[in-house]
Amino acid sequence: MKPRLLLGVALASVAGAASAEDLAAKLIMAMQVNPAATAFWAGGNDPPDNETPYAAQIRWDAAIKGAQTMQEKGRLLQSAGVSHPGAWNGFAQMMITIAKEGEAAARAHDAEKSFEIGARLYDACNGCHKTYVPRTPPP
Ligand code: HEC
Repeated sequence: MKPRLLLGVALASVAGAASAEDLAAKLIMAMQVNPAATAFWAGGNDPPDNETPYAAQIRWDAAIKGAQTMQEKGRLLQSAGVSHPGAWNGFAQMMITIAKEGEAAARAHDAEKSFEIGARLYDACNGCHKTYVPRTPPP
């Protein structure tokens, strides 16, 4: 996995298609933030029909883990080599702060609160995308 990622970075810099910061953000989004958000949002959505208690436990555990991952990756987005000038770090902080609240709601298995927090989380994603990736469709 790692050599392939490094090769991707090398190719992009040769082609001049994207900055290293853009590419880092793209990988963090596609491989980490987006799956984490999807798992968190599943906590606030209606459960699948006939969900067993065991399956519900797994869904909430994944929601908790997703909320934790978004806090970690938010800090990564703020770090040198990934961060961008302007409002970037603020949007990343918004994601961290909301995901922290989301972690508590998921720990409490509170679907209503998770849904409400999930909507605000979307504003953090969308805010950054609107500012920095006008061509990226909303997740
Ligand atoms: C701090 C800024 C920032 C935040 C916050 C952010 N994103 Fe992104 N996201 C980006 C940037 C920049 C790209 C485009 C990367 C590129 O293609 O160069 C992107 C791209 C994406 C993509 C497309 C990835 C691909 O395969 O090209 C998805 C999916 C995505 N973001 C999901 C999310 C979700 C879900 C959230 C919120 C939970 C989120 N993002 C929060 C900056 C952000």
